[in-house]
Amino acid sequence: MIFLFNTNIQAQKISEFPTSNYDFSNPLPQNIDTKIDSIISLLTLEEKVAMCHAQSKFSTPGVARLGIPEIWMSDGPHGVRGEINWDNWGYADWTNDYITAFPALTCLAATFNPKLSNDYGVNVGEEARYRKKDILLGPGVNIYRTPLNGRNFEYMGEDPFLASKMVVPYIKGVQQNGVAACVKHYVLNNQELWRGHINVEVSDRALYEIYLPAFKAAVEEGEAWSIMGAYNQFRGQHTTHHQLLTNKILKEDWAFDGVVISDWGSTHNTNEAALFGLDMEMGTGTDGLTSSTESAYDYYYLANPFLKLLKDKEIDEEVVNDKVRRILKLMFRTNMNPTRNFGRMNNVEHLEVARNIATEGIVLLKNENQFFPINPSKKLTIAVIGENATRPMTIGGGSSELKAKLEVSPLQGLQSRFKNATIIHAMGYSSGPSAYGRVIPSNLDQNKLKQEALEAAAKSDIVLFIGGLNKSYLQDCEGGDRTQFELPFGQDGLIDEILAINKNTGVVLVSGNAVAMPWLSKVQGVMQTWYLGSEAGNAIADIISGDANPSGKLPFSFPVKLKDNAAHSFGELSYPGDSINQYYKEDILVGYRWHDTKKIESLFSFGYGLSYTSFEISDIKTDKKTYTADNQIKISCKVTNTGNSDGAEVIQVYIGKHKSKVKRALKELKGFQKVKLIKGETNEVEVVINAKDLSFYDETVSDWNLEKGTYYVYVGNASNSISEKLKIKIE
Ligand code: BGC
Repeated sequence: MIFLFNTNIQAQKISEFPTSNYDFSNPLPQNIDTKIDSIISLLTLEEKVAMCHAQSKFSTPGVARLGIPEIWMSDGPHGVRGEINWDNWGYADWTNDYITAFPALTCLAATFNPKLSNDYGVNVGEEARYRKKDILLGPGVNIYRTPLNGRNFEYMGEDPFLASKMVVPYIKGVQQNGVAACVKHYVLNNQELWRGHINVEVSDRALYEIYLPAFKAAVEEGEAWSIMGAYNQFRGQHTTHHQLLTNKILKEDWAFDGVVISDWGSTHNTNEAALFGLDMEMGTGTDGLTSSTESAYDYYYLANPFLKLLKDKEIDEEVVNDKVRRILKLMFRTNMNPTRNFGRMNNVEHLEVARNIATEGIVLLKNENQFFPINPSKKLTIAVIGENATRPMTIGGGSSELKAKLEVSPLQGLQSRFKNATIIHAMGYSSGPSAYGRVIPSNLDQNKLKQEALEAAAKSDIVLFIGGLNKSYLQDCEGGDRTQFELPFGQDGLIDEILAINKNTGVVLVSGNAVAMPWLSKVQGVMQTWYLGSEAGNAIADIISGDANPSGKLPFSFPVKLKDNAAHSFGELSYPGDSINQYYKEDILVGYRWHDTKKIESLFSFGYGLSYTSFEISDIKTDKKTYTADNQIKISCKVTNTGNSDGAEVIQVYIGKHKSKVKRALKELKGFQKVKLIKGETNEVEVVINAKDLSFYDETVSDWNLEKGTYYVYVGNASNSISEKLKIKIE
């Protein structure tokens, strides 16, 4: 019988799975449900329950006697994490798990280039496949609500439309390898402080319009095979097992047919886990959280306690069958799919992709007197000051930490590109090593470091200050939020002192978050460079040298001061909450929606980013003046590269409702397109928007509502740089 079962799978595999040009978006054979049911009929209750929870830190058991494989997963989203020990968080110290580090997802979002997102997914998916992972835990699409959130660098910014457009190709790319993406953290995990228990109160409207759309796109368009619940609560219930979020919205409304995986230690209750949509429990410690060292898998909520309820018939067996059905479906898509490729890793193509994304995501924020690019053929003396010029940024940050085979530091990148220059490096300050959950101060002499930096600045033609945040606790790191909006480790003071000595100073910020810039008016240039992975230094040198023209745009607003950010303007109950509850009082007005609507100028706006060339947007028009609900709105314009170098511009289309019956943001991003133009070239751009996408979520009917009347279409190259405002009507 058992033997027969195995042979059956083999026989069916060959006839049912095509061997080339395989469409992985829907790799399931026609009769999959019957097939899964036939497998379920062979499983004991114990075996079924076992499949619903971890057997180690990153795997779940198979059914050995039937040849059903284990499922192995790894953290992403920026690369495949190093191997972790079976039963604790220590690294296993394998020597074959060095990988390519791709740029942080904030950088990917800043490219505004969905094609690159697909390249990212395909390539990181290949590495996951080579490392024999069935699920890659990423990408993350929690919305950027506050610049203090320690994990913003792992997400795709503040705008639900941008995040939706960027997440879908990533997922498709990963899954093309027969590796499941696991979209996280579903949902409202918008801060790290108190993440394990904080209860979020937010309106339905903000939930549907701001926080859910990227997850919805991931499920409906990206067809993600798994999703990860979050740590926090929503309306008094943990999001990992949540009647409304998981059963109703995710599984019923969006028809999600994949596996809901808990975050590590986010499961809290057997009944809720069983009945409110959780399929696979991971990372629970004996203390019921993730913090204890012992995991004791049999005592998981979805282990023995679940088995008992099933045996006692307090929970219907169909409940576990549904979970196993989903898990088996994921397995047919991944480790029981014999046609998936073998993957590859650390190949030159992966580095090229990492470098392209890094280069396209860098955002030029300020460029006085054409400070950038810096000519590499000149015999300049350049002082490179700042700890981030040499600090590895793939290390630290929490679960997204990577064991990179290569990480080119900014200093190394500059040294290899600026061979004619004399480069003097000085740290200027030191922050101490990265540790998870604690701050270890540096024991270096800060005064001495500063003096060396000032001496370097004094004898140089140009100063490049390479600073920002890092991947240590209370910086850009999981498990905690930043405690200040200003740059840490005395950098603001140091920049001032450098400026007093050498005015020809540019700042290169390495961070995943907005920071205050009190020195902004005094520096010549500012570049936002994110965490860029293996090719960080080369990508930075590409942009600084002018080998590549910057074309990244900010995926979130930089407020002047913290209080100008919507969440912070409502005080502590809004952020961070009172440790039990928090209220998203800004409602739908997140990010630029807040700045625009309340007329609070940002330091740098969403969608903003400079180029070394200039562009002109002209001939902006809509195809019609009046539309109905089922129409498409076609907005077109001409873009001309009017400057002296080849480059790329992002045409952004925002739409706002004139006189609405509900509160509205002044405008919202509804379409964008990146165009590459050689100097002098003109191209036509068309952005197509479905009229129904102008709907708001109407709480009075719990559904989307397309209001009739006048709308304004804003076309420009940043949320605060609009070339023209047109009027249209919906009838
Ligand atoms: C994080 C997840 C991660 C998991 C496994 C959790 O603490 O929130 O993003 O995938 O750990 O490392």
